[in-house]
Amino acid sequence: MDGRDLVRAVKEIGTERGRRAWRSAWRHRRADAEALPRRGAERARVPGLLAGTEARPGGGVLRFARSELLVRVTVGGAVFWGWDGAEPVPSYAVVGSGPAPDPRAVLEPDTGGGWRVVSERVTVAVSRHGAVEVRTPGGAVLRRELPPRWWDPVGGGDGGEGGGGAGPVAGGGGSRWLQRSEVPADARFFGLGGRARGPRLRDGEYGLWNTDPKGGFGPDTDPLYITMPAQVVVADAGTHLAFYDNPWEGRVVLREGEEGAGSGVDRPGTSELRLEGGPPRCWVLVGTPARVMQGWSGLTGAAAVPPEWALGYQHARWGFGSEAEVRRVVAGYEERGLPLSAVHLDIDHYDGHRVFTVDREAFPDLPGLAREVGARGVRLVSIVDPAVKAGDPVHASGRAVGARGAFVRDARGREVRGEVWPGECAYPDFTDPAAREWWGGLYAERLAQGFAGFWHDMNEPVSFAPWGDATLPRSARHSLEGAGGDHRAGHNVYGLMMARAGWEGLVRLRPAERPFLFSRSGWAGMQRYGGTWSGDVESSWEGLRASLALVLGLGLCGVPYSGPDVGGFGGSPSAELYLRWFQLGAYLPLFRTHSAIWAGRREPWEFGPEVAELAGAVLAERERLRPYFVTLGHLARRTGAPYVRPVWWGAPEDRRLRDCEDAFLLGDALLVAPVLECGADRRAVRLPRGRWYDTATGAAYEGPGQVLFEAPPGRMPVLARAGAVLPVRREDGSVGLEAWAPARGRTGGGVVIRDPGPGFEAGEVERYTVRWAGDSVVVEDEAGGVVSGVEVRGLGGVPAGA
Ligand code: NOJ
Repeated sequence: MDGRDLVRAVKEIGTERGRRAWRSAWRHRRADAEALPRRGAERARVPGLLAGTEARPGGGVLRFARSELLVRVTVGGAVFWGWDGAEPVPSYAVVGSGPAPDPRAVLEPDTGGGWRVVSERVTVAVSRHGAVEVRTPGGAVLRRELPPRWWDPVGGGDGGEGGGGAGPVAGGGGSRWLQRSEVPADARFFGLGGRARGPRLRDGEYGLWNTDPKGGFGPDTDPLYITMPAQVVVADAGTHLAFYDNPWEGRVVLREGEEGAGSGVDRPGTSELRLEGGPPRCWVLVGTPARVMQGWSGLTGAAAVPPEWALGYQHARWGFGSEAEVRRVVAGYEERGLPLSAVHLDIDHYDGHRVFTVDREAFPDLPGLAREVGARGVRLVSIVDPAVKAGDPVHASGRAVGARGAFVRDARGREVRGEVWPGECAYPDFTDPAAREWWGGLYAERLAQGFAGFWHDMNEPVSFAPWGDATLPRSARHSLEGAGGDHRAGHNVYGLMMARAGWEGLVRLRPAERPFLFSRSGWAGMQRYGGTWSGDVESSWEGLRASLALVLGLGLCGVPYSGPDVGGFGGSPSAELYLRWFQLGAYLPLFRTHSAIWAGRREPWEFGPEVAELAGAVLAERERLRPYFVTLGHLARRTGAPYVRPVWWGAPEDRRLRDCEDAFLLGDALLVAPVLECGADRRAVRLPRGRWYDTATGAAYEGPGQVLFEAPPGRMPVLARAGAVLPVRREDGSVGLEAWAPARGRTGGGVVIRDPGPGFEAGEVERYTVRWAGDSVVVEDEAGGVVSGVEVRGLGGVPAGA
């Protein structure tokens, strides 16, 4: 128990909920003491020397004295390696059986007694000690995996019935292991899921265990709700993504390298991954950032496209309390002419905080309310918590699923109970296909109440505990798709599989509409079922910066749709902080104000008339750009490129861009430079190569370089790339094109995908080019026809120099 925990624990014992949490935490601890396999004697192991090889499609198996290694290069150029018999599937992250082996890639002898697989995009070299090197076709080393080290239980202390289980976590289930890797000295690390400390992941330890930080988080809190052993590494030699496909508890220690360190020799960057069990296996994707993310989306699944309305501004609050209050808030936006797309109802609209119920006194006619606000263009979104109150009808229905019921059990076969908002709860086992099916069906009640979207919360999963880890005991049993295992293997995929259950249920219930779902916890592949949000980010300037770090990091882990609680979750931001957050939020995919029941309000007018007016302008701009967000949502699905990209996206070789953490690209067209400092009225913006226009003044600047922009309260610098073409909503509601003049003698272009409606249609890709024709700029469609009615901007822009 650390100091913070101790204070909380002492405080909580004074409340009824606190006392129950104490009891629950003790029960969990006892369960683990009884049933969790103890770590007994262990024997350390390394692969030993290479003894033989066997060719396999795309590579082969290399037999070492004490383990074997499967190496495979797939058709798209993705590299897979797995020790101890680990194969690409089964996996919770990888879709289908993973990409097919590249038939042209063969295992051949290398110098020094090692072997290699050469393919068009990548070379993999394995040393006779079992180090695996991933190189570019030109021979530059992107990543070197040193021979792993295992700690095998001696005499069956782990594994077996009490162990973590096989199935999707097959291969070496009972051994802890360590993988040390080296990357080029100039490399920067990103990703690992949602990290408040990002986007650049500096030296330090990062946990791999999805965690509710209890009461909010700041820039140093780690881990958070979504952890993933997926790191994006950017170096002069190239960009790559390494994904250790293993959901077990673990941690990564990152250390950036140093060029010319000490004696003038480079010290490589290092990643040291320790996992408590599960398969020692990894995917490495190489190429440009765009290629890498395309490969990642192919591997782990295409991102769900949110419905069009979910790309508008949304308002939430824990504690609306009644239908009348929801009406009042909706009317407040309407009276002031502020666009609003959705209102989110938190747990206070449940009856006694019980999921899939309604407090009929405070919310007597939700379907009527949904119709009423729906007529004004506002949807209702419902929070959905996984924990089910013991003894509730939903609980009874879950117990009737199959022979054993739908809930997580302990090693003795009893339902595991925890403490959440409604009191004592049972936890659906989302790793059980039958439980998923049952759960998915429960959304029928939500749809009947008129809800249009779903907000999955508390699914790390949380069980309140005044000290230690506020989740299920590690000894709790999971189905793991029938393979069986415990919470050490099931924990990190709990939110992912809840999202799957919800998504698939909604698709069954309402097949003509793609669901709107976002989830606090998740794992690699969660984009298949929707997006996520920041969780309880603290109401501070650090929280504002952390919220951008999260969106950028998650995007690089394949989760493109996310955004923060604008204003922060738990406090009362100053008008200045609120406005800066609102300005940033407007350029992120999920644009939502939200706050805790004990925190200040988040409606723009609560911060005074000036903020209300400035927020109005921000909202109008978001509405104008909404078709662009629609395009980016579809592009994310097709290409894996997130809406929000680091500024190095198109130029990873530019080291200064790599280190720029306070700005981002929104698609190809815009560069957004949020104001993240208290009291700032201007800010420096680092420009990538090419011409950029200040969208407020039309002034042009030439990158690469750094420019200082005025940023008084009403202004957040947004730049447009010369030659960009993007769709915008016109005053009359139609979608038109906006083009930014290319530099003289240059051309440009852009892609537009219009909203194909609420269903699963992919939408048509319209391609436009832009060029100078004499003294004017014209935009042409694919057939070469000049498009009329385009708003061309930047014509008067004379580069001010950068
Ligand atoms: C925790 C969530 O992160 C927060 O957004 C929500 O308001 C509360 N749970 C209450 O449901």
